[in-house]
Amino acid sequence: MPEFFEKDFILINLAILQRLHGPIPFDIFIERAPSAYTKIFKKTFYVDFDRIKKYTEEKKVHNFFVERKDYDDYLKLVASTSHDFFTKAEGKSVDEIVSVIKDVADLSLLELMQKNAVNPESITYATNAIKGCITTLSKDRTSLVRLLKLISGHPYSFRHSITTAVFSLLLAKAAKIEGQRNLEILGLGALLHDIGMSMISMQIEDRKDLSPEEWKEIKSHPEVGKRILEDIKNVPTEAKLIVLQHHEQPNGNGYPNNLYSRDIFFLAKIVGIADTFCALILPRPYRDRVYTVYEAIDVMVYDRGKFDQKLVDLFATLFVKAKELSEKKKVS
Ligand SMILES: [Fe+2]
Ligand SMILES: [Fe+2]
Repeated sequence: MPEFFEKDFILINLAILQRLHGPIPFDIFIERAPSAYTKIFKKTFYVDFDRIKKYTEEKKVHNFFVERKDYDDYLKLVASTSHDFFTKAEGKSVDEIVSVIKDVADLSLLELMQKNAVNPESITYATNAIKGCITTLSKDRTSLVRLLKLISGHPYSFRHSITTAVFSLLLAKAAKIEGQRNLEILGLGALLHDIGMSMISMQIEDRKDLSPEEWKEIKSHPEVGKRILEDIKNVPTEAKLIVLQHHEQPNGNGYPNNLYSRDIFFLAKIVGIADTFCALILPRPYRDRVYTVYEAIDVMVYDRGKFDQKLVDLFATLFVKAKELSEKKKVS
């Protein structure tokens, strides 16, 4: 099966366009026949939702695509509409807020499914757990809105946070970590792990040729993140510890505190693995290419000292299972 990013047309999440208050910055297509795409909306025009309704209800067309060359613009649009939403979220209900998160989660999961990375049942499990985390946070709406505004401020960070939470929860499930409180700590820690990056200038974050001083700034994000969360009561102390420790490595080469395995919080090790994996498989401006799911696993399995060995091996089995399942489906 060809990998997702090798395709010329990429599936998009239409729900997100409903929050767009201007012309679309890319063409939108439907697939008339296998691999035959037709343009239905032209760039710079407004989305005509009546026409979309006709496609979905009368013609039973549910998949809409953008060209690969426009995918980056699509992601930027997703990020900016979500960020706009959270910036003006004061009067919005918790349900509305959760639905925006769900749209972005759906988008991320759509990508993962197209990459053949996870099976639908796992996705349902992870999204439900994430919804639970948001509900916990929403007991203090001001904090919820403030935190979401911060994690959605960068075109890549919101999606990255959500996918990291998904994979953290799936790995925890495989590691037989149970109990509502543990999952809540893990989900929140993963969703908020890079919140400290919101204080780092985007020009630095999107480049690969960083000076030592700029690297130092980037490496401060776990501590900055912990400080941002310090007085938010609905975020449990253990979730704050995840934020602080997600770049520590069992071999002592991590940051900020060069901790060794025995001193790293177990759930922070889980988030560290999911975080690296998501950074490898999803596109970032400073990287020349994205890794396929299996390449990413290979990189991580061979990079032994960086991760907890048992957990990485367990993580790899998640994808073997997903692969077997999709092959079985193809045969039947
Ligand atoms: Fe990070
Ligand atoms: Fe991260």
